[in-house]
Amino acid sequence: MVFSVLDLLCFFLFMILPYSTIAQTSRNISLGSSLTARNDDNSSWASPSGEFAFGFQQIGKDGFLLAIWFNKITERTIVWSANGNNLVPQGSQVELTSDGQFMLNDATGKRIWYAESAGTGVAYAAMLDTGNFVLANQSSSTLWQSFDQPTDTILPTQTLNQNSNLYARYTATNYSRGRFLFALQSDGNLVLYTTNFPQDSANSAYWSTKTDTGFQIIFNQSGIIYLASRNGSVLNPISPNAVSIQDFYQRATLEYDGVLRHYVYPKSTSSSAGRWPVAWSTSTFVPPNICLSIVEGVGGGACGFNSLCRLGDEGPICQCPNGYNSIDPNDALRGCKQNFVPQSCDQASPETDLFDFQEMQNTNFPGGDYEHFRGVTEDWCRQNCLNDCFCAVAIFNPAGDCFKKRLPFSNGMIDSSISGKTLIKFGKVNSTLKSAGGANTKKKDNSTLILVGSVLLSSSGVLNFLLPVITYLVVSRVYSRNAKVNQSHPVMSGMNLKYFTYEELKKATNEFKEELGRGASATVFKGVLVSDNGKCVAVKSLDTKVRENDLEFRAEVSAIGRTNHRNLVQLLGFCNEGQHRILVYEFMSNGSLASFVFGDPMPNWYQRRQIALGIARGLLYLHEECSGQIVHCDIKPQNILLDDYFTARISDFGLAKLLRMDQTRTMTAIRGTKGYVAPEWFRSLPITVKVDVYSYGILLLEIIFCRKHFEAVAEDEDQMILADWAYDCYKQKKLHRLFKNDDEAINDINKMEKYVMIAIWCIQEDPSLRPTMKKVTLMLEGTVEVSAPPDPSSFISSIL
Ligand SMILES: *[C@@H]1O[C@H](CO)[C@@H](O)[C@H](O)[C@H]1NC(C)=O
Ligand SMILES: *[C@@H]1O[C@H](CO)[C@@H](O)[C@H](O)[C@H]1NC(C)=O
Ligand SMILES: *[C@@H]1O[C@H](CO)[C@@H](O)[C@H](O)[C@H]1NC(C)=O
Ligand SMILES: *[C@@H]1O[C@H](CO)[C@@H](O)[C@H](O)[C@H]1NC(C)=O
Ligand SMILES: *[C@@H]1O[C@H](CO)[C@@H](O)[C@H](O)[C@H]1NC(C)=O
Ligand SMILES: *[C@@H]1O[C@H](CO)[C@@H](O)[C@H](O)[C@H]1NC(C)=O
Ligand SMILES: *[C@@H]1O[C@H](CO)[C@@H](O)[C@H](O)[C@H]1NC(C)=O
Ligand SMILES: *[C@@H]1O[C@H](CO)[C@@H](O)[C@H](O)[C@H]1NC(C)=O
Ligand SMILES: *[C@@H]1O[C@H](CO)[C@@H](O)[C@H](O)[C@H]1NC(C)=O
Ligand SMILES: *[C@@H]1O[C@H](CO)[C@@H](O)[C@H](O)[C@H]1NC(C)=O
Repeated sequence: MVFSVLDLLCFFLFMILPYSTIAQTSRNISLGSSLTARNDDNSSWASPSGEFAFGFQQIGKDGFLLAIWFNKITERTIVWSANGNNLVPQGSQVELTSDGQFMLNDATGKRIWYAESAGTGVAYAAMLDTGNFVLANQSSSTLWQSFDQPTDTILPTQTLNQNSNLYARYTATNYSRGRFLFALQSDGNLVLYTTNFPQDSANSAYWSTKTDTGFQIIFNQSGIIYLASRNGSVLNPISPNAVSIQDFYQRATLEYDGVLRHYVYPKSTSSSAGRWPVAWSTSTFVPPNICLSIVEGVGGGACGFNSLCRLGDEGPICQCPNGYNSIDPNDALRGCKQNFVPQSCDQASPETDLFDFQEMQNTNFPGGDYEHFRGVTEDWCRQNCLNDCFCAVAIFNPAGDCFKKRLPFSNGMIDSSISGKTLIKFGKVNSTLKSAGGANTKKKDNSTLILVGSVLLSSSGVLNFLLPVITYLVVSRVYSRNAKVNQSHPVMSGMNLKYFTYEELKKATNEFKEELGRGASATVFKGVLVSDNGKCVAVKSLDTKVRENDLEFRAEVSAIGRTNHRNLVQLLGFCNEGQHRILVYEFMSNGSLASFVFGDPMPNWYQRRQIALGIARGLLYLHEECSGQIVHCDIKPQNILLDDYFTARISDFGLAKLLRMDQTRTMTAIRGTKGYVAPEWFRSLPITVKVDVYSYGILLLEIIFCRKHFEAVAEDEDQMILADWAYDCYKQKKLHRLFKNDDEAINDINKMEKYVMIAIWCIQEDPSLRPTMKKVTLMLEGTVEVSAPPDPSSFISSIL
C-alpha cells in the first residue's frame, strides 16, 4: 500500500471543508411503517445526518438485500445486511408492525427474517448517525440493534463482545456467508478461521491474538481498533493509528478474501479520490500476508486449489499456474483447473515427452506431499516427477529435498521469503492424446531404464495413490514441513562422517544424562550438537569389549557411514577413543515403530502400508544396493524408527558385524530377538540376507494387524502366535477375524490379503523359498503378482 496515513491526512485536509457536526438526534420510525423492495423506487430510512440509510439494495438482476449503507457516497457501501444468504424478490417488504415486530417478508408474505431478540415493547425504530439501526421502547431503551448482529463490518463506536463473529461474504458482490470467519471467542482469543464452506463452522485458524483475556473489540471515536481486556485496557492493537471520524468515513470489514481491512474514505465529496483506500499499509491488513498465513491440512489455501497466492498492494492476488485456468473468473478463490489432458497411468512407461514443467521461484505449496526424497539433485527430482503420472508438482530446495504432490495441490504461495523452486507439470500438447480411457494412447519409446530407476529409487507411486489421503500424517507434515523448508539437511554424499571426541559427546549429552533406550550391547542417549545449530542427535554407546583392533572398527563404521538411503537412520559420526566406541546418529523425533504400531490410536492402514514399504526399501538397499552387502540380523519394531514425516527408518544396521555377532551363533540369543529370529540361526544353515527377510515377514504381520507377534493373553491358544494364526486364517479365508476395529483394512481386504501372503512367503522356514527384498518390494508395490504361499513350516516337516 502506497499511502501512509500522514500523506492521506495531509492530502485530504487540504481539500476538506469544515464539516458540520453530526446531528445525534434520531428521527423516529413509528409503528406501522414499512418499505417495499422495488427497482423503480429507492426509498429508505436515512439517519438524521443522511450519512447512513436503511432499506433495500438491489443485488444482481432481481434480488434485494435488506441492508444499511453509507448513504452519501456513490458506492453506497453496505455495512450490514439481514438476508445475504437469501435475497428477496421485488415486492418484498420490511415492516415495523403495529405490535412492534420488525420483519422482512417476501412478496408472498412469507417471513424471511425478523429481529429475533427484540422481544416485546418496541415503540419505534431509528437509523442512527453511527450506522446503528435500533429498535427501542417507550423510554428509549434499546431493545435490538444492528451493532449487536454484525455481518462482515464494524463501524466507529461499535464494539464486539465475546462470542461475536464477522463472516466474510462469498465474493465482492455476493453477500452470502463466505469462506472466512473472524471470532472473538469466549476463551478470550481473537481468531481468524477458514470455514468449512458451504457450512459456517470454523475450519482452521490462520491468525489469532493468542490472548486469553480478550473481552471486547473496540472501534473508538479516534478511529482506533483494538482488542480490549475486561478493564478496558488495550490488549492487542488491531488498527492502532488514529483517523478522524469527523473527516473520514470508516469501516473495518472482513473481506471475502479473508483479510480484515480498516478502510477510510474522505467525507469531502469534492475529492476526486472518492473511494475506499485501505487506511494505511500493512498495519491494517489482518493478517499482514494471508498468502503465507493459510496453511491448511484440509482445503485449498487462501486462493483455492491449484492456485498461487501473492500479496499485492491491496491484498492477496490469486493466479493460476501454467496449464491451469480459473474455475470461475468471477470468483478467484474457487481455484484453478487443469486445462490439459493429464498424464496417463495406463501404460508401462509414462509419456514423458508430452509434458514439461513450469519453473517458478519463491513459490511453495506446503503440505500434501505424498513423497519426500532427501539428498537428491534437481535433475533427479524433475525426472522422478516426470516419470510419475501422479506427480503434478515437485518442489525442490537447494538443500536437496524433493517433495512430490498430486492433484489438487493446496496452499500455493509466492513470496520472496520462500527459497526453493516449484516445478509445475503441464501438458505440451492436447491433441495427440485421447482423454480418459482412450484406446489409442501413444506407445512411448523404450524407457526401461527410467522405469527401473524409478522403482529402485522408490519413487513409483504405484502403491501410494488409492486413497485420497487427508490424514493426520499429511496434517502433521504441513506443519513440520513449514519449519523444515528453511533448514538445510546435511547431504551425506559418500563418506562424510564426523569424528567426535569423547569430551564433545559428553558435553552434547549433558554427561550421558537422557537415556533414550538400552539394548543388550548398547545404550542410546539424546544429545544436542551446539556446534551444529543445536541439532538433536542420538548417541549410541557400544558396550563392546572389542578394543584391540581399531582398524576394524573404523572399517565397519565407514561401511555404515557410506550408506545413504531415505529409509535408513543416517550415521553422522563416531568416537573411537580409549575404550569408548560411540556412534552418533540422526535423531528420530517420532520414536520407534513399536510404540507407533502397538500404541493408541492405531495408525491408519495407509500409514502402515507406507511404513511397510519403507522398511522393505531400506532392507533392499542394505542387501543389494549399497557397496558391500549389509545383513541387519536384528529387524524388529524397536529398531525401526520414525522421522518427522513418519517415514520408516531402519536403525542399528551394520552393528551385527561390528559386534561380531555373525561369527558366533551362541550370541544370537542376545542379539536376535525371539520371534523375529529366522530358524537357520538354530540350525547349521548359512546365515544370509534371508534372515532379514524372515524377520521382515514377522514384522509385516505385526504392522498389518497392529498386534505383537506373541500375545500371551489371547483368548484362544491358536491365536497366541501371530504367524500361525494369520496362516490359519489365510488358509480358511477368514482374515477378517484378525482385525479388531479396523474398517479401513477390512474395506481393503484384497490388498490386505496380498500383504499377508507376502508376509507368509517371507516367513518360510526354508530360506530358499523366501523372496529377496527386491521381490518383496515389487510385490508390495504391485508390480509383481503374489502367488499363493505354501505352509511356512512344510520345510521342517519334510526334513524331520
Ligand atoms: C436508485 O438508485 C440507483 C443507484 O444509486 C440509481 O441508479 C437509480 O436511478 C435510483 N432509482 C430511482 C428511482 O431513484
Ligand atoms: C422517539 O420516540 C420516543 C418515544 O416515543 C420519544 O421519547 C422521542 O422523543 C422520539 N424522538 C424523536 C426524535 O422524535
Ligand atoms: C424499556 O426497557 C428497559 C430495559 O429493558 C426497561 O427497564 C424499561 O422499563 C422499559 N420501558 C418501558 C416503558 O417499557
Ligand atoms: C452467492 O453464492 C452462493 C454460494 O456459491 C450461491 O449459492 C448464491 O446463489 C450466490 N448468490 C448470488 C446472488 O449470486
Ligand atoms: C481510542 O483508543 C485509544 C487507545 O486506547 C486511546 O488512546 C484514545 O484516547 C481512544 N479515543 C477515544 C475518543 O476514546
Ligand atoms: C487491565 O487488565 C490487564 C490484564 O487483563 C492488566 O495487565 C492491566 O494491568 C489492567 N489495567 C488496569 C488499569 O487495571
Ligand atoms: C488444451 O485444451 C484446452 C481446452 O480444450 C485449452 O483450454 C488449452 O489451452 C489447451 N492447452 C494447450 C497447451 O494447448
Ligand atoms: C523399443 O524396443 C523395441 C523392441 O524391444 C525395438 O524394436 C524398438 O526399436 C525400440 N524403440 C526405441 C525407440 O528404442
Ligand atoms: C531461515 O530462517 C531464518 C530465520 O527465519 C533466516 O534468518 C535464515 O536466513 C533462513 N535461511 C534460509 C536458508 O532461508
Ligand atoms: C512427530 O514428529 C513431529 C516433528 O518433530 C512432532 O511435531 C510430532 O508431535 C511427532 N509426533 C508424535 C506422535 O510423536
